[in-house]
Amino acid sequence: MQLVLASSNKGKVKEFRQMCEGEITPFSEILEPFEIVEDGESFAENALIKARTIYEKLGEEYLVIADDSGISVPLLGGEPGIYSARYAGEGASDRENLEKLIGEIKAKGVQKTPAFYTAAIAIVSRYGDYVVHGWMHGEVIDEKRGEKGFGYDPIFIPEGHTQTLGELDQSIKAEISHRGKALRMAKPVIRMLMRK
Ligand code: IMP
Repeated sequence: MQLVLASSNKGKVKEFRQMCEGEITPFSEILEPFEIVEDGESFAENALIKARTIYEKLGEEYLVIADDSGISVPLLGGEPGIYSARYAGEGASDRENLEKLIGEIKAKGVQKTPAFYTAAIAIVSRYGDYVVHGWMHGEVIDEKRGEKGFGYDPIFIPEGHTQTLGELDQSIKAEISHRGKALRMAKPVIRMLMRK
């Protein structure tokens, strides 16, 4: 079976390659570009939509992996959640989404509030569908600190730390992150399915 990733994002391809210790092909290398409508109501549903859509185009000889992730702030009713990538509108940049979240936190009159990141990884093959999750809990603050990471990292302080993910080393993030945890859960599932 050939392993295919339902993402062309270079950072994600790299993370998945390290995890699988082997050949993993981004779907854009074997399929013509097309749009996948992510209209699920959860991270898991959206990851499954991506993986299933590509699996159905490729067929039984393939094992397709897809991920979906985002940040949720309970004080804001769970926002931005599954809309993290387009919080400030369709096509919004990471910076615009971040500024919007800072604005929403400030509008609540707080300087910090609990938040958590979620990552769902879907694995689809002829043996069926699997989804694993990873979470990272912490707090978001009302100002940016640090330049590392991406997306909402400059305002997110992980539990047990005093610095934001914009300030902390990326190796620390890899250990504690939602995506790192989900990847470690996905690894044995993928290995098992590849051996079947
Ligand atoms: P996805 O590529 O559809 O999973 O979109 C995830 C969105 O959630 C990104 O655009 C980021 O805004 C946000 N996000 C997910 N994981 C992280 C992270 O580790 N750091 C910062 N932002 C993240």
